[in-house]
Amino acid sequence: MTQRLSGKTAVITGAARGLGRASALAFAREGADLVLLDIAQDLSGVPYPLGSASQFEYTAELCRELGVSVLTQQTDVRDMREVKAAVSTAVERFGRIDVLVNNAGIAAPSGKAAHEIDEDEWELMIDVDLSGAWRTIRAVGGLMAAQRSGSIINVASTAGLVGYRHFAGYVAAKHGLVGLTKAVALDYAPSKVRVNALCPGSVRDDSQVEGRMLSEIARSLDVPVSEHEETFVQAQPMNALIEPEDIASAAVWLASDESRQVTGSVLTVDGGFTAR
Ligand SMILES: NC(=O)c1ccc[n+]([C@@H]2O[C@H](COP(=O)([O-])OP(=O)(O)OC[C@H]3O[C@@H](n4cnc5c(N)ncnc54)[C@H](O)[C@@H]3O)[C@@H](O)[C@H]2O)c1
Repeated sequence: MTQRLSGKTAVITGAARGLGRASALAFAREGADLVLLDIAQDLSGVPYPLGSASQFEYTAELCRELGVSVLTQQTDVRDMREVKAAVSTAVERFGRIDVLVNNAGIAAPSGKAAHEIDEDEWELMIDVDLSGAWRTIRAVGGLMAAQRSGSIINVASTAGLVGYRHFAGYVAAKHGLVGLTKAVALDYAPSKVRVNALCPGSVRDDSQVEGRMLSEIARSLDVPVSEHEETFVQAQPMNALIEPEDIASAAVWLASDESRQVTGSVLTVDGGFTAR
């Protein structure tokens, strides 16, 4: 069977676990060589553990088993110098970057009304979930424009399209990311570089990819995970949580040449949640 990403090099941020790992695996199955970035350590101000160094290495190992080349680089998307250095190393190793998946994200602060959010918490959220994506775009945009090809996928959220009570920081950052997607799509359209947003609904915490965002959000709202899951199942017209591979498959399509005329678009994978 033809591999849809064969010959391409993809950078994926936040790849240690969760949707980043699911995307890395799906990209590897489709033949892409990978540059995986993750902070791979905890972050002061985020009240739950982030991806660990061993989870990060495990993602890489699983991808290598699928026969592709993988470069891992511990990189904090809040730091422009680290991002630039990671991209330079990637270019030295692979010669080009065809795909960038801006997936790294945090879901804190959550469970707070706007006036209860500290300034530091607000700034951290914007720094990771919005400015982090801008930094990686800043690092690869010129390069993709010069090679006159590329696909940038910004993993936003349904929170980039509608509001959620007690999630002002996350909602603002993800709305910002959708806006950034549209603006940057116009910047690079003449250079044939495509930029799209992928908006997942509520994704099941899958043990294979060690996802934990849903349970962390439930914890911040002080409700049992099963109750939180049920709330989302009821809210999603297709009556099911989204699976990590649903997001990974959409990312593969946006990365592949099958979507060559798609740019500036916002693809929801949310079981119809935002349709009503
Ligand atoms: N899981 C969901 O239900 C859901 C729904 C909608 C959108 N999303 C979005 O999908 C993306 C992935 O979410 P997930 O559920 O896999 O979360 P997750 O917490 O399991 O994984 C996020 C990864 O990003 C990394 N990361 C965090 N801050 C970083 C930084 N500063 N620099 C580099 N890496 C950093 C973490 O270490 C972790 O490995 C996020 O952007 C999230 O907002 C998730």
